[in-house]
Amino acid sequence: MEINLISDTVTKPSGEMIKFMNNCEVGDDVFKDDPTVNMLEEKVAKMFNMDKALFFPSGTMTNQTAIKINTNPGDQLICSKTAHVYNYEGGGVSFNSGVSCKLIDKERGFFNAKDVLNSINPPDFYHSPKTSLVCVENTTNKGGGACWEMNDLSEIADLCKDHDLKYHLDGARIWNASVKKGTDFSLFGELFDTISVCLSKGLGCPVGSLLLCSENNINRLEEDHKKAKEIEETLKSLYFVKKVEEVETNIIIFEINCNYSSEIFINKLQKKGVKLIGMGDNKLRLVTHLDYSDNHHEAFLDILSKVTL
Ligand SMILES: Cc1ncc(COP(=O)(O)O)c(C=O)c1O
Repeated sequence: MEINLISDTVTKPSGEMIKFMNNCEVGDDVFKDDPTVNMLEEKVAKMFNMDKALFFPSGTMTNQTAIKINTNPGDQLICSKTAHVYNYEGGGVSFNSGVSCKLIDKERGFFNAKDVLNSINPPDFYHSPKTSLVCVENTTNKGGGACWEMNDLSEIADLCKDHDLKYHLDGARIWNASVKKGTDFSLFGELFDTISVCLSKGLGCPVGSLLLCSENNINRLEEDHKKAKEIEETLKSLYFVKKVEEVETNIIIFEINCNYSSEIFINKLQKKGVKLIGMGDNKLRLVTHLDYSDNHHEAFLDILSKVTL
């Protein structure tokens, strides 16, 4: 008799699972023509109340992909000193994403919102890497299968929103956390930008992970439109602005009165750290976007309302 307690990754498919695998309909998943993969992705996305899921062979790949899409090269992520993404993914964080890790050294792989706050590099101090992502692991592998309290996860989520940070859950064993704490999967979906889950840990599947995400970058475009409208209003109140094209989405085109110079306007704003481009004929263009944050918007409206020519 062999008693294998190495890992929950050693589990093998049951007879029923093998029968299902033998009989299931397959196709080319690149063309979204694999009905079984499509069904799995839809099912898991729905469980977590997230918009999309993508099937990958491994949890390392889902974590690495999440880090890549949530950061830019040179950025820094915050995670536990014991995190899988830092210790066991072959240095992929630095190789794949060009990102460094700020490690939090607390018991069992946990930390709280205050720890995260203390780990964020000052955004205006350009010598330090930009902090852009927080990764948590639930359950914590090196922490001995420990489960996070929802309250802690949710406080960190709020902090991430306030500081423009993305929030990733390495949920390789989220199934165990959910069973232990009785937490509905959809509650995790509400907090995180991306979630990685593994089918190969204790569930009998030989391989497989899914990366879940919300189509935030489409759903959030309304915010850009709203900001553009507010900029339109401020521009209309300025004595040197002749005309603002009706703003419908995120592009604002306006014209400076011919008695004033658009060049001077651009230079004055540039000195305050604002970049914009001219379009000729004293016309200028502003475009709101994903990286134009609430803080930027507040500061820009203030600068705009005070500028004189
Ligand atoms: C917490 C955690 N995340 C990610 C992974 C990576 O999963 P995989 O082995 O499928 O790459 C593991 C693997 O054990 C894990 O324990």
